[in-house]
Amino acid sequence: MSGNLEQFLTDLSRGLDKALVSVNKEMTLRNRVQRKWSMRQCARFLNVGVPYLNKFAKQNDDFPAGEYIGRERVFTVQELMHMRALLAGTAKRPYDYLAWRKPEDPLPVISFASQKGGTAKSLSAAHFAQYLSLHYGMRVGVMDADPQSTITLYFVGGEGLPQMPTEDTASMVDFAGLFQSDDAPYTDYDAEILDSFFLKTSWPGVRLVPAHGETSEGEIQIARLVSERPKGKSFYRYLRDAIERWRDHHTPQTAPNELVEDGKVNRAKLDAALSETLDCIIIDYQPALTLFQLNNVVASTSLVIPQTMKGFDIATLATFVNGLLGMLQHILRNERIEIGAGENVLLPTIVQRTNNQDLNQIANLLEHCPAEILPVFYLRSDSIANASDVYQSVYEYQADTPGKRKGIDRFIENADAVNDALVDRLWPGRARGYATNWIEAFYEDDEEGN
Ligand SMILES: Nc1ncnc2c1ncn2[C@@H]1O[C@H](COP(=O)(O)OP(=O)(O)O)[C@@H](O)[C@H]1O
Ligand SMILES: [Mg+2]
Repeated sequence: MSGNLEQFLTDLSRGLDKALVSVNKEMTLRNRVQRKWSMRQCARFLNVGVPYLNKFAKQNDDFPAGEYIGRERVFTVQELMHMRALLAGTAKRPYDYLAWRKPEDPLPVISFASQKGGTAKSLSAAHFAQYLSLHYGMRVGVMDADPQSTITLYFVGGEGLPQMPTEDTASMVDFAGLFQSDDAPYTDYDAEILDSFFLKTSWPGVRLVPAHGETSEGEIQIARLVSERPKGKSFYRYLRDAIERWRDHHTPQTAPNELVEDGKVNRAKLDAALSETLDCIIIDYQPALTLFQLNNVVASTSLVIPQTMKGFDIATLATFVNGLLGMLQHILRNERIEIGAGENVLLPTIVQRTNNQDLNQIANLLEHCPAEILPVFYLRSDSIANASDVYQSVYEYQADTPGKRKGIDRFIENADAVNDALVDRLWPGRARGYATNWIEAFYEDDEEGN
């Protein structure tokens, strides 16, 4: 073999393209079979009792039919959304069923960022987005800032987004307007065009600005703009300005109690409401601290830093935190601007509970920064690999053996607790108690274990 890197990369790239085509085919054919949920599980999502939901189902002709698997009646995520609309139509507190933004509410932009790869940024971000849809009926805009497109893979396939995006698909680089046109060094797209960059996914109300290889152009374009210094825009405001422009033209119009007419959900109205605005935006980062990522930070109201707990990881984390702090201070010296005015938090991930070092590290961090560290965290799980193998989240994965199901259910419990803790910080008063229950159980087990 000659050491020809160009040839090696060419051949490898061709092979990988073919491999990806077959991934695409598999996902399209399977139509992204999503997990279906029992009446009991739906009641939990809706935060009502099972008897109440059963009674409500009997009394309402428009209650979704579901499907019988054996003796169990199960429902899709679309049917769950339909239930929400139906319940909100008659409820005293319709926003309990559809936790939609009111016109005067701010738009949270929540970033999952860290400088290190493999810290479960994408997994945490995808599961948080899906959790908000399942438990609150929120309309979530997911933005993929990583050319590796991990979170895009979580949402591609099925009716909404049947194919992997190509280089022609608009990505965050387009959204931020970073490409030059014939007459300008950057492009301020109008709000309607920006809205068209959010692609529908198989999750009702969840839309995605996907990533692909070209997303790495973002950094090159910013570097160009930094050197060209076009009038009218600072190098760190591209995404922020675009999101604000989109937001101001896509304010909430429909209230949750306006979707039912003559005892039936008006489907057209519900579909329109699901894409008229977003209740929050979630950005999944590239593991790097670049000017492009800085644009994402500047656009964010909240930063979640998913972080593994090994000694080396904490050192990387310190580099990231100090690097970002330096960049922010530079900006704040030049402009009075609010950045990350919401809750910011460090989320420990892939924690090995059998490993004292991990737990000691968390205890240590909690002692020194009690407000900054989330006391609920992601435990290392082997089950996640089963779902990842088929490009699915644990909220979608339908386990085929009791053993796998048990592992996945345990991971769901963990994910629900983490997500509930995040909700508690981001939307005070909305938490369901999964986080507190998890903390109690975890520390009780821990005492028994020791
Ligand atoms: N709690 C966990 N237990 C075991 N493996 C995990 C866990 N969370 C994430 N992983 C795995 O770690 C890898 C990296 O996760 P990912 O979310 O892609 O990280 P990042 O986006 O930070 O690079 C993936 O293979 C994922 O399945
Ligand atoms: Mg990632």
